[in-house]
This record gives sequence, structure tokens and C-alpha cells, in this order.
Amino acid sequence: SEVKKIAVIAGDGIGPEVVAEALKVLKKTEELFGYAFETEQALFGGIAIDERGTPLPEDTLDICRSADAVLLGAVGGPKWDNNPKELRPETGLLGIRKALGLFSNLRPAVVFDCLKDASTLKPEVLEGTDLMVVRELTGGIYFGDKLRRQGEFGEEAVDTCVYNVTEVERIVRQAFEIAGKRRNKLASVDKANVLETSRLWREVVNRIAPEYPQVELEHVLVDNCAMQLLRRPSSFDVIVTENMFGDILSDEAAMLTGSIGMLASASLGEGSYGLYEPVHGSAPDIAGQGLANPIATILSLALMFRMTFGYEAAAAAIEAAVAEVLDAGHRTSDIAVDKSKAISTTEMGDLIVAAIRKA
Ligand code: NAD
Ligand code: IPM
Ligand code: MN
Repeated sequence: SEVKKIAVIAGDGIGPEVVAEALKVLKKTEELFGYAFETEQALFGGIAIDERGTPLPEDTLDICRSADAVLLGAVGGPKWDNNPKELRPETGLLGIRKALGLFSNLRPAVVFDCLKDASTLKPEVLEGTDLMVVRELTGGIYFGDKLRRQGEFGEEAVDTCVYNVTEVERIVRQAFEIAGKRRNKLASVDKANVLETSRLWREVVNRIAPEYPQVELEHVLVDNCAMQLLRRPSSFDVIVTENMFGDILSDEAAMLTGSIGMLASASLGEGSYGLYEPVHGSAPDIAGQGLANPIATILSLALMFRMTFGYEAAAAAIEAAVAEVLDAGHRTSDIAVDKSKAISTTEMGDLIVAAIRKA
């Protein structure tokens, strides 16, 4: 079959550790399903700052653009935390999303039955939770003008939040489409009681809603949503929201699943091209110790198979392998109730690889 090109960006901290496990899974699916993948590694983030003087080297972007999809670990760490903006790993992350036109970030949060005890919430509250955060990724306060200036009371800082109608329309349409293929429920989350960008957001949502009469729409203010996610998580299907609210709510949603080490994501534009990365960061507190949970990255690879390549059988096989390994009781320490029985990053990766079968 056709060779698929994947740009691989390991990044910093636990990034290389979790990406290595996903690459084992990739190799196994090649053997099992007869796919042909060509991977190319690219420098990005803190390591790129150290080696090339910029978090997002031009040739890294070229490698990403010439690939069919990108697999990304994570970037950032204390070493670069006091750097000026252009020499920060996070600036590279925003840059790559913008440069590749990835305005839509899908972050599914599914509670595995056997992991209900890994969450800090009560099992009966988590029962049946299966939601998808659709996060706008290339607009809002992340990308608005920023400045430092002298104000009346000394130095002050400004971050500007801007959204135009086109940006809101395209993400909201994607969210309605996704809801239509799931359980036909959409929660649009904003702060329309205070923010002008949120009032524009809500107008656009209400204008598009009649095109999707089968989708039940609710508007939820973001503070209330943060609370409802803990009170009635299983009642949510698709949540669509702006960039920063989506960032925050998806980390909160991660804890429903037991750990942020479980949460995968897909960043998409208009076409099938995509960048796939775990929701978590570089976790400097556990980096280099074999403690990282690789499941978020492995499930991100499954999303790549499904959403960019249309390899549904392999995507499902990876997800089934993850479920099987968890059902058998294997846990990395972040999801282990008894931490003394926890297994390492590579052990988890190996178990999942061994459990992948062709249906
Ligand atoms: P983080 O997600 O890296 O870590 C938060 C907590 O979750 C830590 O205690 C960490 O040990 C734990 N954790 C995260 N991933 C885990 C995994 N796979 N297995 C087990 N435990 C895991 O968030 P942070 O500590 O706020 O940020 C650390 C750095 O990562 C910062 O520089 C931040 O900017 C960066 N960051 C990068 C990305 C990205 O690359 N997409 C995302 C978020 C944060
Ligand atoms: C994420 C991260 C990034 C974000 C940071 C590291 C720029 O938290 O991918 O969720 O805020 O988008
Ligand atoms: Mn985040």
C-alpha cells in the first residue's frame, strides 16, 4: 500500500519517552496490517533552542509540511522558563499550530470502566463519561497583541483577546458536525456575560445552530462548566470553546479519566492533515525516570490512524489493546492505586504492543 509520511517531534522532558512507545506501536501495526510508514525526526522546543537557537527551526516546519501527519511529544521545561518570548518552547508550539493552520483541537476524555478508581472523583459520578472537548487553537488571547508598558502605577502588561466571525464559524461548524456523529449534544462554553469575544462567539453559534436541528445545543458559562464537569461529567457529549477555556477545561476533563497521562489529542485544519499529541506537557518533575504514562501518546497515534489515514481497523486495534492491558490491571504510577505495583513507561508500551491484534 501507499507509504505514509509521519513527522516525529519528540521534544523535551517526557516527550521522547512517550513518543518512543508510540513508535513501537507504529512498527507493530506495520507488521500486522501491512502499512508502510516513513518517519522523519525533527527538532522542536527547548532542545531546538539549545541546538539551533530557535524553538521552531524552518526545516522542522518543512519536515512537517512535507509529511501526511505529525506526531508530537511535548515541549518545555524549567531550563527555558525565564527566556524571552521568542526563545520559549511554548512559542514554538503556538507557531507550529498557526503555521500548519491547525485551528481545531479535539481532546476526547473517555473514562475506562476499570480506571474509575484511579480518578479522584466518585466512581458513580464518572459512570458513562465519554466527552470531547473541541478547542479553538489558533486564535483568542494566545495570539492577540501583547505588550509591556509604563502605566499610571508603573509597569503593566496587556494581552489582547481577538476573534473574528470566520474563526468562530469554522470551529463551531466542526463541533456541530462531530456532535452529529456522536450523541447529538453540543455545549458551547463562553463567558458571554462579560467578554465581547464571547458574545460574538454565542451569536455565531446561534446563527449556525438551525443548520443542525438534530443537535441539542446548550450555552454554558465557563465558570459554571468547570463546576458541571465535576458534578455531571457523563451528561456532556461535545464541548466547543475558545482557545484558553479549552486548554483549562481539557486538563480538568483529564482528571475524570484518572490522569492527564490518558488524554490524547488531534489538531486539525480543514483537510485530513493533522498533528497528534498528548494533552499533557513535558512533565519535568518525572522526566527521565521511566514514570510517564505513554497511553495519551499511543491513543494520539490511534487518532492519527483514524482521522488522517482512515485506518479505522488499526485505530480500533490500538484502542482495544490499551483497554485490554488496563483491564488486566497493569498501571503506570499516575493511574495506579497501589503505587508499589506500578510498571514503567517502556513496560506499559511493550504490553500494549503485545496486545495489538488484527481482528
Ligand atoms: P504537565 O502536563 O507537563 O504536568 C502536570 C502534572 O501531570 C505533573 O505532575 C506531571 O508529572 C503529570 N503528568 C503529565 N503527563 C504525564 C504522563 N504522561 N504520565 C504521568 N504523569 C504525567 O504540565 P506542567 O507541569 O504545567 O508543565 C510542564 C511543562 O510542559 C511546561 O514547560 C509547559 O509549558 C509544558 N507544556 C507543554 C505542553 C505541550 O507540549 N503540548 C502541554 C502542556 C504543558
Ligand atoms: C497545551 C499546552 C499549551 C497550550 C502550552 C504549552 C502553550 O498547555 O497544549 O495544552 O496552552 O496550548
Ligand atoms: Mn494545556
